[in-house]
Amino acid sequence: MKQNIVLIGFMGSGKSTVGRRLARRLGYGFVDTDQAVEAKAGKRIVDIFEEDGEAVFRAFERQAIEKAASGEGRVIACGGGAVMDPSNVEVLRRNGVLVYLKASEEALLERLRRGFERRPLLRMEDAEGRVKELLDQRAETYESVAGVIVDTEKMSPSKVVEVIANRLGVA
Ligand code: S3P
Repeated sequence: MKQNIVLIGFMGSGKSTVGRRLARRLGYGFVDTDQAVEAKAGKRIVDIFEEDGEAVFRAFERQAIEKAASGEGRVIACGGGAVMDPSNVEVLRRNGVLVYLKASEEALLERLRRGFERRPLLRMEDAEGRVKELLDQRAETYESVAGVIVDTEKMSPSKVVEVIANRLGVA
């Protein structure tokens, strides 16, 4: 049985880009939980947050994770807040290894600055302050739930793909 490879980490850490490439490289299926939520809800995540609230989004996310984790040989790119819910971590770990794409606050801000508007949790005056606050709240959890931590600083997405494949022995 092929384990799932679950990419976790903060918004802007490259989970979707790396995930899609990693899946192609290994011949695995690919699931992006944010995309799965949008398909199921029939609307964009920003609109779910605005019209229905974060709790409704988290419920969709939980469902998407359960569905994705029920298969095997998949790369699953999780939304940045997914592993803050311990039951999601438990579900994902059943048949998956959690890989944390770690990046510094500066690197994340650099990537996120271009699209604060697209991120419902960062649509506010002091988006940078919010990034810092969320990162402070979450960094420890990302580290502690991960089976593998990849420091992505200054690495291209294809390099990150290679590092993950090597570290997991699936190259
Ligand atoms: C969120 C991250 C987003 C998306 C939602 C909430 C979070 O996913 O799931 O906006 O709580 O960090 P990305 O990490 O793919 O941007």
